Amino acid sequence: MKVTIIGAGNVGSSCASLLAQKDIVKKIVLLDIKEKFSEGKSLDISQMLPIIGSNTEIIGLTNDYSKSKNSEIIVITCGVTRKPGMTRDDLVKINAKIIRSVTEQAIFFSPEAKLIVVSNPLDVMAYVSYITAKIDSHRVIGMAGILDSARYRYFLSKKLKLSPNDIQCLLLGGHGDTMVPLYRYTSISGIPIQEFISEEENNVIVEKTKKGGEEIVNLLGTSAWIAPGASVVQMIEAILKDSKRIFSCSAFLKGEYNLKNIYLGVPVILGKSGIEKIIDLKLNENEKCLLIKSSNHIRKMIEKLNFFSF
Ligand code: LAC
Repeated sequence: MKVTIIGAGNVGSSCASLLAQKDIVKKIVLLDIKEKFSEGKSLDISQMLPIIGSNTEIIGLTNDYSKSKNSEIIVITCGVTRKPGMTRDDLVKINAKIIRSVTEQAIFFSPEAKLIVVSNPLDVMAYVSYITAKIDSHRVIGMAGILDSARYRYFLSKKLKLSPNDIQCLLLGGHGDTMVPLYRYTSISGIPIQEFISEEENNVIVEKTKKGGEEIVNLLGTSAWIAPGASVVQMIEAILKDSKRIFSCSAFLKGEYNLKNIYLGVPVILGKSGIEKIIDLKLNENEKCLLIKSSNHIRKMIEKLNFFSF
């Protein structure tokens, strides 16, 4: 099994490192445009392998897509990341060009691959990659929901003084301020969240989750990479092991949730063909309203892209 990661920056190299630690793929190809960068990163990760006992081979290359040939999964992490004061949306024009170019090259060498898009603004970049790759949408998946859910679970676990492992939740919508964590679908070891915390108190955690990425940007001067890397690895594992796990991922909607021609975070079943099914939940009026607001926000950015004719 071969996985290619495009972009050897913080997210790409963290993803390669965490994936290598799992010892579930034969080969990881790490690509970057910056001369010698992937080579250096992959050497460093490779030298960790004897210590942790993994047999994964990691190859770092400068922009040589031919070596990514016949990858089962391609992870797209490249592009510009935000700096303090920027939103994910500020990156749309520059990253769209980058994502289009890398998708073209990657899919040429691996026409059967599943694409996992991580670059921001996430839902728009997943859309760009899908339009460019011209493959079925179940093979182009955006990573955001696992990360946002993890942040929510972490903050909630701190508030409740409980293990984050026991918290299950569901997030809908775009990766940004309009994300929609669903109180109604949060539980702790099967016990509805209402037994632990009121909706008002939960809203404070939701707001903190929405600002979770920004908090790290303000602390570090660049965006997060360890939790994002781990989120991608969880998706890779579900696909390669065909484990049919349910995660919130950014998926192309064809009428689900009454939305069409847009990438948005929804619960999906992940298996060997990528998205095996989108779970179309019956939302209440308030949830519907929030999801429409989020979709309008993403749609505006997609329209802007057409305007730029990127
Ligand atoms: C974040 C970036 C990866 O949310 O979008 O940290």
